[in-house]
Amino acid sequence: MTVQMEKTRIRRQEALCPGIFDLTLEAPGIAAQARPGQFVNVYLNDASRILPRPISLCRISSSEGTLRLVYRVSGERAGTAELSRCQAGTTLRVLGPLGQGFPCDGAEDVCVVGGGIGVPPLLEVLHALPGRKTAVLGYRNAEQMFLKGEFEAAADEVRIATDDGSFGVRGTAVDGVRALSHRPRMMFGCGPRLMLRALKQYAAEQGIPLWVSMEERMACGIGACLACVVESTETDAHSHVKNKRVCKDGPVFPAEEVVL
Ligand SMILES: Cc1cc2nc3c(=O)[nH]c(=O)nc-3n(C[C@H](O)[C@H](O)[C@H](O)COP(=O)(O)OP(=O)(O)OC[C@H]3O[C@@H](n4cnc5c(N)ncnc54)[C@H](O)[C@@H]3O)c2cc1C
Ligand code: FES
Repeated sequence: MTVQMEKTRIRRQEALCPGIFDLTLEAPGIAAQARPGQFVNVYLNDASRILPRPISLCRISSSEGTLRLVYRVSGERAGTAELSRCQAGTTLRVLGPLGQGFPCDGAEDVCVVGGGIGVPPLLEVLHALPGRKTAVLGYRNAEQMFLKGEFEAAADEVRIATDDGSFGVRGTAVDGVRALSHRPRMMFGCGPRLMLRALKQYAAEQGIPLWVSMEERMACGIGACLACVVESTETDAHSHVKNKRVCKDGPVFPAEEVVL
């Protein structure tokens, strides 16, 4: 896999619900190589924003040469707000594909567990998984249930949890996992750190192997600057300390390898 800087063009962009945007980029070079669970670094055209925004791949189409990114605007003055105002036809520099994705090949009876803006990358993962697959999605409320229909089309069973109980199970995605009708053989999680911590505890209690996708503030995105390290349970061969670089070694890790 070769990481490349590609000059991409926005094919379409729309809001899925308040604050959540769905962006399709024409990026044939990156799309030809990308794997589920990987991410890209999006460089904004505003020269005052030098650092890129890391965004996961929600869908990858190598045949159409496109990448779909679903992201949350984190503030009116944030770079993601600038991105949300870009029209179809705008060109953006994008670096990717970056990081290590989920181990989908041959994985059977997997449950993907997403919380909030951790939901989007799991859609590509579901499409890549063979056999029976389940999704548990946690949202703030019914108004924020973006991508629900697409997950229902891709999974054998979908369980929804909302913080306020306005749809599905009241509680977090982990409460949704507890309400599943069967015990999966493996789980893939992506979402807030607290959710991943609770999921790791549940997976350990149940003896279910778990992989988690982590998020950290980043700079280079290619493993060179160490801006994105998280604490690992074992000493790292690269740095000789208990560190993992989220951008290069991850963002996906076996849950037992990282401190959550
Ligand atoms: C591997 C990975 C995958 C991600 N996937 C998604 C996704 O699919 N959808 C989505 O909405 N968000 C995703 N994020 C989070 C997203 O990168 C941040 O929300 C975004 O960078 C915030 O930028 P901003 O311009 O809104 O905020 P600003 O406050 O303007 O950002 C200032 C700087 O801080 C960095 N930064 C701020 N918050 C974060 C954060 N949470 N993580 C990393 N860098 C941050 C920005 O990249 C920028 O360099 C992902 C993060 C990582 C590390
Ligand atoms: S962002 Fe530079 S090492 Fe990860």
